[in-house]
Amino acid sequence: DSVSKGLLGFQSIPVSHLLDDIVVPPGYQAEVFFRWGDPVSDGPEFQMDASNSAADQALQAGMHHDGMDFYALPRGSNNSDHGLLVMNHEYLDLQLIHNDGSHLDSPDSYSADKVLKEQQAHGVSVIEVKKIDGHWQIQRPSTYGRRITATTPMQISGPAAGSDWIKTAADPQGLKVLGTLNNCAHGKTPWGTYLACEENFNGYFTNAEQAEVSSVQRLRWQRYHLGRSYYGWQQFDTRFDMAKEPNEVNRFGWMAEIDPYQPDSMPIKRTALGRFAHENAAFRLTRDQRVVVYSGDDARFEYIYKYVSHEAWDGTQGSHHGHLLDNGVLYVAQLHEDGSGQWLPLVWGQGPLTADNGFADQADVLVHARLAADALGATPMDRPEWIASHPELDSVFVSLTNNVQRGSGDNVSADAANPRNHNLYGHIVRIDEADPAALNFGWEVFALAGGEEDGGTIDGDIYACPDGMLIDDRGVLWVQTDIADRQLNSGDYAKFGNNQMLAVDARTGETRRFLTGPVGCEITGAVMAPDMKALWVNIQHPGSVPDVLRAQGVEKSPQNPRASSNWPDHHPQGRPRSATVLVTKHDGGVIGT
Ligand code: FEO
Ligand code: CA
Ligand code: CA
Ligand code: CA
Repeated sequence: DSVSKGLLGFQSIPVSHLLDDIVVPPGYQAEVFFRWGDPVSDGPEFQMDASNSAADQALQAGMHHDGMDFYALPRGSNNSDHGLLVMNHEYLDLQLIHNDGSHLDSPDSYSADKVLKEQQAHGVSVIEVKKIDGHWQIQRPSTYGRRITATTPMQISGPAAGSDWIKTAADPQGLKVLGTLNNCAHGKTPWGTYLACEENFNGYFTNAEQAEVSSVQRLRWQRYHLGRSYYGWQQFDTRFDMAKEPNEVNRFGWMAEIDPYQPDSMPIKRTALGRFAHENAAFRLTRDQRVVVYSGDDARFEYIYKYVSHEAWDGTQGSHHGHLLDNGVLYVAQLHEDGSGQWLPLVWGQGPLTADNGFADQADVLVHARLAADALGATPMDRPEWIASHPELDSVFVSLTNNVQRGSGDNVSADAANPRNHNLYGHIVRIDEADPAALNFGWEVFALAGGEEDGGTIDGDIYACPDGMLIDDRGVLWVQTDIADRQLNSGDYAKFGNNQMLAVDARTGETRRFLTGPVGCEITGAVMAPDMKALWVNIQHPGSVPDVLRAQGVEKSPQNPRASSNWPDHHPQGRPRSATVLVTKHDGGVIGT
């Protein structure tokens, strides 16, 4: 039924079964806009065989595009013809980043140069985009074009800055760190800066067992799942070796504020927002104009947090408002069975957060926010991913992507807010707060994902594993899915096909499938131009190999990078590349109508 009952005016599309391309509804087009390896300004071009150097990579788009936002030019305007697109590059496909493989496939040729290239492929890209003759293009050269990587110097601010937890041999003051890592999604501050969230930072540090630290410290590391690395950076960059530098890991798991309008500005990690696996940051304002930042901790049985600034924002633009993210209170959510909830403050000296319980000071509480939240009795959730705030409703929406461990073994069982044991398909919870300064809230399960036969409650096209979200100015909740790459197109997940993006009327729940991605990818990150006539969407890790293809003998390697996908270039010597795609309507109209 393509007749709109409300906000959604497009004809929904079917699920995509292993098609190696993007599909959008009739009347729409999707074009590849900015791929891994494309220069952010007038830097070097991508080499199809991935032979670009670390120095090249430092001037090119990183890998694994994720959260993204749009910053109109000039600053403070609502211009829909010119702006900056800022996006995260979350992690790497180690079989694709180098010409001949990483420490996993080619341990003998692993080198400091390879480590540096891997580090330069992380972080954030800023590109200048302009609509010329009705068509959005990347401006090259651009004075704004910029890469922020895992080696970019950053300031550390807030209550944990300068504390003993943050000090290292290389930075005895505990005020400066090199780089940002595993930047999943992001936030856009009301004053026009970008927050790059650091999610699975644990995956970069290793040798915890060899470190000479107390048993208390070891427990804290366990709580953050620290100890083993997917990368091999410690071989050439010792700060990632926990036995050699046990505190470096405390300098990740934060949110880094970046001013995209000032290409020479130094990013600042804001420690008042707490240290955990930050998915994204959603902003609201209290009735007295104080700043509220919501953020989920994406791991099984982790929590939902919000931060409320002490001071009000004066409504003006510019990075000088950053101190609002340094002085405030961080809370964690407790969701009660009756649909009410409470925000519990992570304030040292209050409740259980005292020296008697092992918390030395406020810096300790923030560096070890997960342990503080445990002590407060926060509600364990089914992997809190993105949080999105609605422009008119007094609500934020939280995607809870899945949690197959709920109810198994010693794990907690289903509750009202996480109502399914062995939660394969995830759900979305809405939190309602008339004034986000309040410490009490109401909440409701907005949708249980999956089909009706799975107990799903979706009104329309089905999906599983909700993750990325955007609520546009019309009140359409755009939901992006992240069924784990190996599970795509098979077993319990077969009927959902490739990962996808849906449009949901946030008031009624009506749901229509809008976009399906290429083989093996996740869809994550989306932003519209202010006039809503351009939608940029990020396609992450195309070319991952679902088990259903592995069973047919499809195997990817540095020598065979195109095993499952050759999107987007379909070049005979190419390789799959994460990319931003630009979606527009043939008639130039508003997206989703
Ligand atoms: Fe990077 Fe939780 O997704
Ligand atoms: Ca995600
Ligand atoms: Ca995910
Ligand atoms: Ca991802």
